[in-house]
Amino acid sequence: MKFTSIKEAIKKGKGKVAVRGWVYRERGSNKFKFLVLRDSSEIIQVILRRENFEKEWDKIDKILVESSVEIEGEIREDKRAPTGYEIDADKIKIIHVAEDFPINKDLNEELLGDRRHLWLRSRKMISILKIRSTVLEAIRNHWHKKGFYEYHSPIILNLAGEGGSTLFNIDYFGKPAYLSQTWQLHAEPAVFALEKIFTIQPAFRAEKSKTSRHLAELWMAEMEEAWCRFEDLQNDVEGLIKDIVVKVLKENAEDLKVLGRDMKKLEPTVKKKFPRITYTEALKLLKDKKKITIKWGKDLRTIEEDKLSELFETPIIVREYPKEVKAFYMKEPEKHPKEGKVVLGFDVIAPEGYGEIVGGSQREEDINKIKENLIRDGEDLSKYEFYFDTRRYGSIPHGGYGMGVERVISWICGLDTIKDAIAFPRTMTRLSP
Ligand code: 4AD
Repeated sequence: MKFTSIKEAIKKGKGKVAVRGWVYRERGSNKFKFLVLRDSSEIIQVILRRENFEKEWDKIDKILVESSVEIEGEIREDKRAPTGYEIDADKIKIIHVAEDFPINKDLNEELLGDRRHLWLRSRKMISILKIRSTVLEAIRNHWHKKGFYEYHSPIILNLAGEGGSTLFNIDYFGKPAYLSQTWQLHAEPAVFALEKIFTIQPAFRAEKSKTSRHLAELWMAEMEEAWCRFEDLQNDVEGLIKDIVVKVLKENAEDLKVLGRDMKKLEPTVKKKFPRITYTEALKLLKDKKKITIKWGKDLRTIEEDKLSELFETPIIVREYPKEVKAFYMKEPEKHPKEGKVVLGFDVIAPEGYGEIVGGSQREEDINKIKENLIRDGEDLSKYEFYFDTRRYGSIPHGGYGMGVERVISWICGLDTIKDAIAFPRTMTRLSP
């Protein structure tokens, strides 16, 4: 018989089916063995009656969790079964009898982390990884639909894209080199060739941070666009986030249910326009609504972003930050507020305290200002010569942004930690498996 997925078997609902997968749960008596079988699509209860398997019973009796099997039998509705259906097996082929599976519900986070390669088989991780796949597809679709090219930048660099403090050093044939924190400096030159580009690629941040929001290796979805205005970038990011959430709600409703995620909390993101406020307005809101006073010029910290996000049901765009707290490549506007110098940069802050999910900006075109900013940051200008060339030959208005893919997944799935948004997290305290 031809194998189908468990989900397809359930959809069929009656008659003969053949499925294969791994034993998710097992219990037995003298007369019966009950297996819950798992494949990538779903789980289903299987009953094996001893009277039908007398010769093989010894082996069947010894099947442990995570053994792999093929089953043929009659499927029928059974309200008591975990997914409402049961297969009454008439054939079983044991492919592999698993050893005692070293994961049980008593393991703490650290031990689960050590056994991550096995924990990937949990229903929770399967659902998250499916949602992750949908998110990545939605991102690609969004930009392809708008005529962007997928373009890749090098990971090994000899300079910093986002300041020196979070660089991973590597030994590059005896010379110092770094893992890229962003594609940006090697993306900007390419907009003069392709105009609209995007990537989804790993980025590396040596942040000495043990929070639930920081990874040392993350995936960043980034775009860069020629001729665009500051407002266009914000429109694009709002459209992108809406596209992602719409697709996940449509395709992963069951996975969100497995994760216990309240889908209603994601609906405003689809239906409502995202508030766009300046940094200066954000300080005022924090003061008026949350009794938090921040001195103009100080960056918003996590705690303040969280307080701000409590005031809204959708992601919010906070823009025009003080120049001193932002990267050297961000453009200064023609007019500054009375409080001080700002740049045309923005952050998107997720609802429900999931923090900053996107950072982007209009790019500075004035080569002298860029140089001044780099000197301010203590950078070696000679390494940026190639970058200055983009402002020497046909300089144009352009901009872009980067989205932390795991931050977005964390928020959409309602996770306690960003580590679960990726199969094998890399953090300050975890490098294996
Ligand atoms: O705001 P960031 O630093 O922006 C840039 O790197 C720009 N050069 C991007 C661009 O314009 N092309 O990082 C972008 C996003 C953040 O908003 C955050 O979501 C995520 O990347 N991010 C992290 N996610 C997990 N762990 C970390 N350590 C992260 N650092 C940044």
